[in-house]
Amino acid sequence: MDIEYLLTTSDPVAVDELMREACRVRDAVYGRRVFMRGLIEISNHCKNNCLYCGIRRDAKCRRYRLSKEQILDCCRTGYGLGFRTFVMQGGEDAWYTDEVMCDIVEAVKREFPDCAVTLSLGERGRESFRRLREAGADRYLLRHETADADHYRRLHPAEMSLEHRMQCLHDLRDLGYQVGAGFMVGSPGQTVETLKKDLAFIEDFKPEMVGIGPFIPAAGTPFEGERAGSVEITLRLLAMIRLLHPHVLLPATSALGTMHPQGRERAIAAGANVVMPNLSPQDTRSLYSIYNNKLSTGSEAAESAADIRLRMAAIGMEVPEDRGDFVN
Ligand code: 5AD
Repeated sequence: MDIEYLLTTSDPVAVDELMREACRVRDAVYGRRVFMRGLIEISNHCKNNCLYCGIRRDAKCRRYRLSKEQILDCCRTGYGLGFRTFVMQGGEDAWYTDEVMCDIVEAVKREFPDCAVTLSLGERGRESFRRLREAGADRYLLRHETADADHYRRLHPAEMSLEHRMQCLHDLRDLGYQVGAGFMVGSPGQTVETLKKDLAFIEDFKPEMVGIGPFIPAAGTPFEGERAGSVEITLRLLAMIRLLHPHVLLPATSALGTMHPQGRERAIAAGANVVMPNLSPQDTRSLYSIYNNKLSTGSEAAESAADIRLRMAAIGMEVPEDRGDFVN
């Protein structure tokens, strides 16, 4: 695959061919099915200070965290709407010790045994990942952010490293999780060379899920004055990821939906097959502001599962009530 050509060409025929081939490959593996995940943003407390992130430690945002009961309530709402995967995502918040988090995972799995639980809680130790897996967690999302060590250092404070991030991803795989990696498109310092490394990593590690979306500057961060990433380039990368790893579960991310009113449909037309609407409580949604103007209403809101089904049906896709596991 000529990655550089596909990223830079202005030939609409070449781009169209790329998108169509990605859809063909996706349809051969998963059929015309889009899987829904309910995203529950459990905490915006974070001990990390990632330069791009609106809930970094130094951000002056109002902080919240959800209790076990609040999380279970979100799952109950979601179950009624047809969700069969719950994604619990949060900053690296020490309040959620292994004891607390295992108790929450066990409670969700007990009440919803036919649902998958996905965690996205940042870097934890292998023993912590092991206990959470034993408590019933099925999947873990931890974007690698960039596969280039220098670029990684440009995006993160000195105490964080690509090496440790990769260690976590390997530990998660070892422990039997379905693993999600991914990166932002157009983050400061990203080049064709760093993107080639991202795609090589994905082709080699074959994460079960890959989340990518445009970088969007977040107020109050060192990158607040930087340019946002491109929707068009994100779509091309989605298609390339589908071709390099045909079985991947590939979400049409909220960042894409935030940047373009038809972002989700366009992502599906580029080979994506997952949507992750917001299931968080109404009053905390606006606080999980990892970037500016983040969507959590309209079709981004889980209440509009029906709206999502309609929008997907309009482009010839169905949305099953299904865990939507990785197909080997
Ligand atoms: N723009 C786009 N994506 C962001 N993320 C964090 N901050 C931003 C931003 N400003 C992404 C990171 C993280 C995921 C949860 O959200 O890739 O892993």
